[in-house]
Amino acid sequence: MTMVWIIHTSLYLLSVFQVTLTFNIDPVAWKYISVPAAGFGYKVIQLNSTNLLISAPEEQYEKSRRGKVYQCPVGVSPCTPLPIQVPSHAVNMTLGLSMTKDPKTSKTLVCGPTIPRDCKTITTYNGMCLEIDSNLESESPVPSSLEDCPGQTDIAFLLDGSASVADVDFERMKTFVKSLITQFLERNTEFAIIQFSDDSEIHMSFNVFKNNIESWQLKLNNISQQNGLTYTATAIKRIVKDVFIPSQGSRPNAKKVLIVITDGESTDHGDLKSAIEAAEKAEIIRFAIGVGIAFDSNTAKDELRSIASSPQGNHMFKVNSFEALDQISNSLQNSIFPIEGSNTTEESIKMEMAQEGFSAAYIPGGGFQIASVGAFQWRA
Ligand SMILES: *[C@@H]1O[C@H](CO)[C@@H](O)[C@H](O)[C@H]1NC(C)=O
Ligand SMILES: *[C@@H]1O[C@H](CO)[C@@H](O)[C@H](O)[C@H]1NC(C)=O
Ligand SMILES: *[C@@H]1O[C@H](CO)[C@@H](O)[C@H](O)[C@H]1NC(C)=O
Ligand SMILES: *[C@@H]1O[C@H](CO)[C@@H](O)[C@H](O)[C@H]1NC(C)=O
Repeated sequence: MTMVWIIHTSLYLLSVFQVTLTFNIDPVAWKYISVPAAGFGYKVIQLNSTNLLISAPEEQYEKSRRGKVYQCPVGVSPCTPLPIQVPSHAVNMTLGLSMTKDPKTSKTLVCGPTIPRDCKTITTYNGMCLEIDSNLESESPVPSSLEDCPGQTDIAFLLDGSASVADVDFERMKTFVKSLITQFLERNTEFAIIQFSDDSEIHMSFNVFKNNIESWQLKLNNISQQNGLTYTATAIKRIVKDVFIPSQGSRPNAKKVLIVITDGESTDHGDLKSAIEAAEKAEIIRFAIGVGIAFDSNTAKDELRSIASSPQGNHMFKVNSFEALDQISNSLQNSIFPIEGSNTTEESIKMEMAQEGFSAAYIPGGGFQIASVGAFQWRA
């Protein structure tokens, strides 16, 4: 329920005038506008001399739609809700928690700053504002999309299936991959698995992982070894071209990580340089794990070093046997976790709690500002 301040003030002044003239004590007729909507009256905008906009930000009118704005004539007619089209992702936005009118253009900015977004490890809160023109039609939302979830990482495993890897070792490699995936599962991470030997074979793309979140282990168990040569460079090129691409489920804003596990030098050594360049260009961060005595040789070690991203100290691992892979599990994880967060700089963490539109104001020169409280800044 809301008292109409501005109208009432003028009525009151008028009655004072009448009092002095006629000595007739006229009780002021308070005008009440009431709509049975949660939070009705939280914000009131005087549209013009005959119309108000009144928000009911707490009104839950659908399961994931919260906040309505009403047009209320200053007369006997009832209020009517504005048919504002909010975008589908504007879940529970609490529309109308802030409203402000541009005195110049007569447009009104209506904001909802409480859109939750489930980002696995945290829920972020974002907001959005819509402009309503003088015909009471709403324009497209600002900002038009929500901030990305923080810490997205897409990890591809490239497993050596060449004949020099014993059956039992190939199984050990799968077990190692399984335990790594399990460690990362709770984070905002998705996976792909590729085997290489003579050919490279994509056993699980990021899309397949997304669509089989319950059965990825079965897919991994099911991989059988190719038993051929070691076409490492060809496989890396294939991963750049066919795995880390949006149509295969690679997320455009995710960190790209490639983990190569191999037991020896590549057959296509000559192509390695261009393969690494392609991966570098695609911003794929590479970890190289060399298993076994082959990496006692300097050429093999150099090759491993060239596959790994720099600084190689954090990106290159050497173990003596597949049995020993577990030993590097922790240091590998510790090297990957900071990557997830590396662009989650303080700045971007703030933006994830930005709550755009917590308050808003028109700028006299044109345009408007939206306060992002969580971000300690204004957007113009
Ligand atoms: C929106 O809010 C309602 C009521 O609190 C709740 O039941 C619903 O789950 C919320 N929707 C989302 C997607 O958070
Ligand atoms: C006030 O605004 C409403 C909504 O835009 C409009 O329908 C009405 O004609 C306006 N009244 C005046 C007096 O300008
Ligand atoms: C396992 O592999 C077999 C043969 O390659 C295939 O028919 C089956 O669908 C696979 N199972 C899963 C869970 O991928
Ligand atoms: C990190 O974020 C900045 C600014 O948003 C962007 O320019 C840069 O490309 C990002 N780096 C990576 C590795 O995603």
